[in-house]
Amino acid sequence: MSYRVAVVGATGAVGTVMLAKLRERGFPASEIVPFASERSAGRELDGAIVQPLNDETIQGFDLALFSAGGSTSGEWAPRFVEAGAVVVDNSSKWRRDPEVPLVVSEVNPQALDGHKGLIANPSCSTMQLMVALKPIHERAGLERLIVSTYQSVSGTGQRAVEELENQTRAIIEVKELEQPNVYPHRIAFNVVPQVETFKDGDDYTTEERKMMAETRKILGASDLAVSATCARVPVYTGHSESVNVQTREPLSPEECRELLSGAPGVIVLDNPADGIYPLAIDAAGRDEVFVGRIRRDPSHERCLNLWVVGDNLRKGAATNAVQLAELLVQRNLLRSVTV
Ligand SMILES: NC(=O)c1ccc[n+]([C@@H]2O[C@H](COP(=O)([O-])OP(=O)(O)OC[C@H]3O[C@@H](n4cnc5c(N)ncnc54)[C@H](OP(=O)(O)O)[C@@H]3O)[C@@H](O)[C@H]2O)c1
Repeated sequence: MSYRVAVVGATGAVGTVMLAKLRERGFPASEIVPFASERSAGRELDGAIVQPLNDETIQGFDLALFSAGGSTSGEWAPRFVEAGAVVVDNSSKWRRDPEVPLVVSEVNPQALDGHKGLIANPSCSTMQLMVALKPIHERAGLERLIVSTYQSVSGTGQRAVEELENQTRAIIEVKELEQPNVYPHRIAFNVVPQVETFKDGDDYTTEERKMMAETRKILGASDLAVSATCARVPVYTGHSESVNVQTREPLSPEECRELLSGAPGVIVLDNPADGIYPLAIDAAGRDEVFVGRIRRDPSHERCLNLWVVGDNLRKGAATNAVQLAELLVQRNLLRSVTV
């Protein structure tokens, strides 16, 4: 059996990787149709013509992978579902909706059962954290997490990559800098402790709130204590995270290392004396999540510290979306909602 697939936001940072992943992983597609805004409609992309979103163009799909921002998903994802497709959405629009499963392929694939046509992909910073923490949660029970992130600019999309590039070039060539456009401050040669916005006077950002809420939803752990601080760093691709993990049961660094070495989707790189630990530049372009610097927190007998790195465009978005699509096919969950 093969399926007709729409990729909405196909010209963007995540969309282009989704197109590549569908092909690379041999997804059984009879046709892959790229969609983007009116700006890109008519352009050729990956051997197909980019389509605009309208009532005619969205008909006849089995699957739609969305990465075109929350407002596009809010408007068009339900319309694709009505037209018979199952939607896997990368935006934050549906993630907290109790009716919408929020799924990491290695962590909670069972949440796909009984879906109602819409499935949410977690945020990139949460995704890699879940892949690393699920085995620990199963073995020793998570009690409390303190996470600090160092997030790359491609996590904001194509325009942010260009902003970092332009600012870096201007600084090196001692030219006048334009006002920052994507971020509230210069990102080149800087660290900005703000990822997304401080909504309604909140002193946590929307990204930090997402990380806390999504972690509890994916792990099914409503009582898990989580505190997150998210920072933007001048890295093209690959989010890094310092994670302090407090477990209910004792877990030694050695046990944790062994546990994660056998975990799906995880690669342990942990020989710090030889300079071996996960780096964003090595994780970029890879589908796995990398964990290292596994060590006891000397201030608490049931706390460990970890360094977790993943490619935000791949496992953090496109790879997981395509893995969910594969699971939907394997479990015969694609056709079941077709109207
Ligand atoms: N970047 C990441 O690491 C990451 C990770 C997880 C989730 N996400 C989520 O994925 C989504 C896309 O992120 P991105 O980084 O790929 O952004 P991006 O590079 O800015 O790409 C945005 C895409 O959406 C399309 N688009 C914008 N407005 C549209 C509209 N009104 N109708 C149809 N298409 C429209 C754009 O088309 P044009 O080219 O025609 O403008 C482009 O293809 C966001 O919701 C983001 O939160 C991103």
